[in-house]
Amino acid sequence: MSRATLLVMKIGVFDSGIGGKIVADELQLAFTDDEILYAHDREHVPYGNKSPEEIQQLTLLAITPLINAGCTVIVIACNTASTNAISFLRKTHPRIFFIGLEPMIKPAATQTKSGVIAVCATRATLASESYAILKEMWAKDVRVIEPDCHEWASVIENNRSEEIEVAALVADLRKKRCDVIVLGCTHYHWLKKRFQNANQNMIILEPTDAIRQRIDHFKQDYSSFTAATN
Ligand code: DGL
Repeated sequence: MSRATLLVMKIGVFDSGIGGKIVADELQLAFTDDEILYAHDREHVPYGNKSPEEIQQLTLLAITPLINAGCTVIVIACNTASTNAISFLRKTHPRIFFIGLEPMIKPAATQTKSGVIAVCATRATLASESYAILKEMWAKDVRVIEPDCHEWASVIENNRSEEIEVAALVADLRKKRCDVIVLGCTHYHWLKKRFQNANQNMIILEPTDAIRQRIDHFKQDYSSFTAATN
């Protein structure tokens, strides 16, 4: 099916804060005919230091404007909310197609040559059951370093990201033979260029491309389904 016949959609993007903005902007560039609506929860950010139950309730409330606006797809552009709340959200809103994010452990484990990867993520993501399952499935034979990033989301949210010592962290990871770094929190996408500039030999992974592909496939399936049932 050609892209021209695809339906125009309202696509919601949610994050606790400014991490979702960078994802929403990239998606709007990719899906120019669709309406990308972005919701956040600045009142309660950061989510990364909260319990799974709190994250579930806060996310449910914070996505209400996206549901009321008629979004067919909602991207939970927050690893913390996805790893702790996506099943709960799917159960609560079975008619919405939710796309969640998880730290990219599988591609990292596949691409590492040294057998050492790093996952930069919030405490709630690292403590989640989904993350434990991911590591168990894909990273059994790989050493996974989890640097302490628990203050980063607040720092980035407050426009002080230059305080984060990215180059020093990358140098330290390199010393430990790490060759792939996973940005497992969308707030850290704002640091991506600094990670890349710190060491050109390091692979930096984040999921924007994968989300784009998921939406593209969904749009194609949805358009075919709608055409077949009309
Ligand atoms: N941007 C969110 C993520 O991807 C986390 C930020 C927070 O702690 O609220 O995990």
